[in-house]
Amino acid sequence: MDIQLAQAWDANQTSDWLVLFIVHDEQPILPASTPDELKTIVNNLHESGDLPAKKGEVRKLYGQQAPLPLRVLIVCVGEKKDCGPETRMRAFSTAARALCDKPDLNITWLLPDCSGENVCAGKQIKVAATALEMAPQTQALYQKEQKRFAYKSVTLVSSYEKETAIEKGKVVGKAINLTRELINRGPHEVHPESFTDRASQVAADTGLQIRILGDDQLEQEGMHTMLAVARASAYPARLVILEHKGAGDDVPFVGLIGKGVTYDCGGLSLKPSDSMKTMKSEMSGAATVLGVMQAVAELNLPVNVRGYMGLVENMISGDSYRLGDVLTARNGVTIEVHNTDAEGRLVLADVLALAADEGCEKMIDLATLTGACVVALGEEFTGAFTNDQAWLDQLMQASGKAGEKVWQMPMCDSFSDQLRSDVADCKNIGTRWGGAVTAAKFLEKFVAETPWIHLDIAGPAFRTNSKSYREGGASGVMVQTLLQLLESSHD
Ligand code: BES
Ligand code: MN
Repeated sequence: MDIQLAQAWDANQTSDWLVLFIVHDEQPILPASTPDELKTIVNNLHESGDLPAKKGEVRKLYGQQAPLPLRVLIVCVGEKKDCGPETRMRAFSTAARALCDKPDLNITWLLPDCSGENVCAGKQIKVAATALEMAPQTQALYQKEQKRFAYKSVTLVSSYEKETAIEKGKVVGKAINLTRELINRGPHEVHPESFTDRASQVAADTGLQIRILGDDQLEQEGMHTMLAVARASAYPARLVILEHKGAGDDVPFVGLIGKGVTYDCGGLSLKPSDSMKTMKSEMSGAATVLGVMQAVAELNLPVNVRGYMGLVENMISGDSYRLGDVLTARNGVTIEVHNTDAEGRLVLADVLALAADEGCEKMIDLATLTGACVVALGEEFTGAFTNDQAWLDQLMQASGKAGEKVWQMPMCDSFSDQLRSDVADCKNIGTRWGGAVTAAKFLEKFVAETPWIHLDIAGPAFRTNSKSYREGGASGVMVQTLLQLLESSHD
């Protein structure tokens, strides 16, 4: 997609659509570049009460006269005081998604005026490019008819010149699209081996270092809990480790660890049919790590980052791991299995322990770990857990800048009581109550002393419905937050 910057609107450049973003206070605030003819139209609409005045509201106007193009889309960003990163991203996504149902369109966006708001002009150009890159990719990957199309050309009118922002925004959009695509594809296609192939392709394209551990190496590394989960599947387990070295030898690595359960039927603790329908999305954590690693490499961020993707399929066979089995994790902790559907934490246990052993100075894991987190926080918030408040504070700041919703959950030791086992060091589930926290307390046993954040993305990773501002299905949540965190961690 060809995205360009222009400092002013050019009446001689033919556009299929002119898109006008307005910030609405008592009076509509128009971009400085708005042509006079359009200002008059907006004033008339305002007077007749027909101007979109609510956050995310849009109006399509057809049959405009020269010098305006035939078609104009007006998008209300929101109130000035509420124009933060999330609102801005929503407005841009709404606009990008509103018109891309036809191929080969040339469009022009008059970007909102940024003066006095908490989104800077360079940032909004980047976010616009991200939204435009994301808009044509849908979850309808298996339909004959294509419903959304990339624009042929987009001109962003902004008084601020920052060409690099467009490229950066596109890289972020492509990373999110990679994450979304992998999640949206069915488990018939995305399994530990094919996910590994995709990661190898990313490594070859970007220059990331890659290590792939199969059954034998996983056995050698003592990763018995991960192997136990994978045992009933026709696909062997894989651990994929991608490495980006953008900083010096003395700079330690940040480890990103993703749950990569390519399908979760629950194992012997079989899920009910309805709950199984979306369980292709259980590799969202790993797909997020892959997306972030691709962008980190393409942006050549001056940081050292390692991405760990623990890939297994949780199935049933005569060789299934059982309730009552006692597994020994890589770090020697013994675990009594009391529910084979609490498999994500068993995969992460071994991978976190390995990442800690490999000297990651700080770690973040991402997992669609618990339904309990969705009960607690709903479908929009990511639950955050930590053993190091300063590390999580950094991530919370990054999520604010990225416009993604993260909420911290407690980590009191009393939650660990639920994990006591009569026969082993712990068991893999607690009671019904506080299930998201007991899962986090379980993971904490495997991170040693490493500052660590656990992000439970069970709610936002896969959305049950579409909205004007986002496609249903996989969301690519946390890609932007993690990139923002890594970008700001070195300055
Ligand atoms: N697949 C889930 C988590 C999940 C639930 C994600 C709902 C998205 C929506 C995870 O592997 C799981 O099965 N968790 C169990 C844990 C329980 C057995 C302690 C759950 O949440 O029911
Ligand atoms: Mn499960």
